[in-house]
Parts: sequence; structure tokens; C-alpha cells
Amino acid sequence: MKETNDKELMFNESLENLVDNYGTASQEGIKASLLECQNIFEFVSNNHQVEIARTFQVDIKLVKTLMKFMPSIKESIVEYEVVCCLGSRCASNGSMEVIMAVKDTLGIGFNETSKDGRIRLMSRNCFKKCGQGPNLTVNGEFYHKMNKLKAIDLMKSILNK
Ligand code: FES
Repeated sequence: MKETNDKELMFNESLENLVDNYGTASQEGIKASLLECQNIFEFVSNNHQVEIARTFQVDIKLVKTLMKFMPSIKESIVEYEVVCCLGSRCASNGSMEVIMAVKDTLGIGFNETSKDGRIRLMSRNCFKKCGQGPNLTVNGEFYHKMNKLKAIDLMKSILNK
């Protein structure tokens, strides 16, 4: 888990530097971010594509289009990326219970992929939506005010799709 967090921190820092250097909506900046993401994680997940789009304030479609012109970029092939917030504010609202429920229901830990290759579990330190926590995302879509039961239901719905 520590290594995952370190990588996320490294990527977040790089992303902030890149948007400062290139400016929002910069295609060159987005390309540099995609390369940086791949350097750190060895592939570009859906979640990171959403993150890059948010940071550069562009539509996710632009990020996906640019990726098509970058054959060296490997897109994550999982169907579902579940990202749990590990931040202290979500923790004080009960996220540990949510995280345990997610891990138990999916049967995987952070930075692992389910045996059938469909689901990857990842973590973030804070989504900056602490007031609505505990937070998690599935393919970039937010689920706020999660609790153990809601997390189990949501994970089961993904497993059974
Ligand atoms: S601590 Fe979870 S969104 Fe900030």
C-alpha cells in the first residue's frame, strides 16, 4: 500500500508541475502527463486519464484521442477501476470500514487486479471532496457518503455485471 501511495504522490506532484509549466488545455502538457503516468505506473489507467483531464481542464475525450496518437502508451485493460480514498478526513468519517468491505467483497488488495482481469483496486490520498466522504470512484465516477453496506452492494453489482 505504501508503494502505491508513493507512486500516486509522485504522479500528483508531476501533474501539478506539468500544468504549471504548460498551462491548462495544453495538448503538449497532456502528452507529457501521459508519458509520465506510464513511466510511474507502466500503464495509463482510466482513473489517471480522468485525473489528467481534470487537471488540464479538458474533456476526457481529448485525452483519449491524444492517446490514440501515442502508440507507446499502454492503456489499462481492466473494465472497472475502483479507487478508494485513504485520506484522514474520510478515515474520520468511517472509510476504513468501507475499504475493508471493498477489499473483502472484491477479494483483492490495493494495486491488485481480480483474477479474471476485470477489476483493479487502487487508492488515492484525498479526492478533495472530504465533506462528502467517505469517497470512492468507479471508472472516475464518484460515490459519496459511502458506508460498509453501500460499498458491498456496489462491489457486488460490479462483480455480477
Ligand atoms: S480525505 Fe477523502 S476526499 Fe479528502
